[in-house]
Amino acid sequence: MTHILAIDQGTTSSRAILFDGSLNVVSMAQEEFRQHFPASGWVEHDPSDLWATVAATARAAIERAGIGAKDIAAIGITNQRETTLLWDRKTGRPLHNAIVWQDRRTADLCERLKAAGHEPMISARTGLLLDPYFSGTKLAWLLDHVEGARARAKAGELAFGTVDSWLIWNLTGGQVHVTDATNAARTLLYNIAENRWDAEICGLLDIPMQLLPEVRDCAGDFGVTRADLFGREIPILGVAGDQQAATVGQACFRPGMMKSTYGTGCFALLNTGADLVPSRNRLLTTIAYRLDGKTTYALEGSIFIAGAVVQWLRDGLKIIRTASESQPLAQKADETQEVVMVPAFTGLGAPYWRPDCRGAIFGLTRNSGPAEFARAALESVGYQTRDLLEAMRADWTTPGQTVLRVDGGMTASDWSMQFLADILGAPVDRPRVTETTALGAAYLAGLAAGVCPGPERFASQWALDRRFEPRMDDSLRQAKYARWKKAVAATMEAA
Ligand code: G3P
Repeated sequence: MTHILAIDQGTTSSRAILFDGSLNVVSMAQEEFRQHFPASGWVEHDPSDLWATVAATARAAIERAGIGAKDIAAIGITNQRETTLLWDRKTGRPLHNAIVWQDRRTADLCERLKAAGHEPMISARTGLLLDPYFSGTKLAWLLDHVEGARARAKAGELAFGTVDSWLIWNLTGGQVHVTDATNAARTLLYNIAENRWDAEICGLLDIPMQLLPEVRDCAGDFGVTRADLFGREIPILGVAGDQQAATVGQACFRPGMMKSTYGTGCFALLNTGADLVPSRNRLLTTIAYRLDGKTTYALEGSIFIAGAVVQWLRDGLKIIRTASESQPLAQKADETQEVVMVPAFTGLGAPYWRPDCRGAIFGLTRNSGPAEFARAALESVGYQTRDLLEAMRADWTTPGQTVLRVDGGMTASDWSMQFLADILGAPVDRPRVTETTALGAAYLAGLAAGVCPGPERFASQWALDRRFEPRMDDSLRQAKYARWKKAVAATMEAA
C-alpha cells in the first residue's frame, strides 16, 4: 500500500492523479464537464456531474496504473473552492445546482450588507471581504430561493458543503459530513482566528448552523470510501482547497514564501506563518493549512481571469485553435502598439473587488490585430499578478527577498513567465513538477498515512526547472505598468 490517489475537482474539469510513494506521477485521468450560465454573471455546475467525473477519473487512473485498490494507501482531495452545494441528508439529492465561485448573483446582497456596516466585523473574523465570490451569500441565496429550504435546514434535514464535502459525502456513502479548515475559511462563515463556525455571521445571513459540516485538519481522518466504489475501502486522509494544496505542493512552508497558480484564475498565496495578518490593501487573509491543530495563515490575492483569457482567445475570439498557439501569436505583435486589455469578464477581484466591472480593451489602432490581442491578453495576467504583489509587499513588510514560485497550465509559456518576471521586476521560479495542486493533496494524505516524509524533507525535494530573471528596462516597466493602472481606472469608471 504505497500509492496515493489525488482527486482534483476543478472549475472546468475533474482530474485524478495516482502517485507512487515517492510522489512521482504514475497515471492520470481527466474529464471536462458542462458549465451552466443560466443568467448574465451566473455560473452553475450540476452536482451529479462533479461526482460522476470524479468517480470515473479515479477509476480510470487506478486502471491505467495497472494496480489494484489494495495498493492505495490513501486518497487526498483538492477542489475548486467557495462553490456552494446544498443537499438532502436522507436521500443525498442536491436541492439545486452548485453555485460556482465565479457567480455574481449575490452582488446586491453583499452591497446591502456593506451599506449596513457589516464588512469590518466580517473581515476581522473571516479574513474575507463582502464579495459574491464566497460561499456564505450563495448559501443564503439558496435558502431564500429553493422553496421550503430554510425550514428544512432548521429541522436538520439538509447539508451544506463546498465541493470537498460533497465528494466526501458521496465517497463515504453519506456517512461523513466534514470539510477541512482551508475550505471552511472560504465560506464567509468561519472564524479563522478561533477556528470555529461564527454564530453571529450565520445569524446575519439567516443560515441555520445545523447545515454546516464538521471542520478537520488538512491531514487526518475524513472517513473511508464505500467498498463497492474501488473494490475495497480506501481511507481519505488529506483535504485542502486547490490554492492551499498548491501552496503545500510548492513546499511554501516558511513565512515569506509565496506561490502563484495560473488556472482559470490566478491565486497568489504568501505564507505568513502562525501570524494572522489582516490586509490593509484589500487582500484576503486565509488559512494556508492546518496540521496537528496548528494553523498556518496566508495572505491571498485572487484574480478571476488568467488562463480563462486564453480560453476566450480560443473560444470567443477564435483567433487561436489551441492554448499553446497564444505565445507564438503574441510574439508576433507590433511592439510599438500600446494595446492594454482588462479581462474583467466576471468583475475584478483583488485588490479592486468590483463585481460590476466588465472587460475592456484600450489603445486599438487600425493596425491592431490578433497578435496584439494575444499579447495584451497574456500581458494582462502579468499586470494583475503585479497588482497582487504590490498589495502583498505593502501588507507584509518583513524584510528578506521573496521569490515567486509559479505553477498551473499557463506557466508552460516561457514568454508569459519572462513577461511576468519583467513586469514584477523580480525573479520567478518554475518548478520541475507543475502538478503542484494534486501533489499537495497527495502529500497531505501521504503524510497522514505515514507514507510521505515530514514537511522539511518534502521541501528539500522541491526542484527548480527554470528561474526567470527580470530583463526589462526599468523605465519601460514603469511606463507599461502605469498604462495598465490607467486602463483599470477607466474600466472601473465605465462600470
Ligand atoms: O477560488 C477558486 C479557485 O479555487 C478555483 O481554482 O484552479 O479551478 O481556477 P481553479
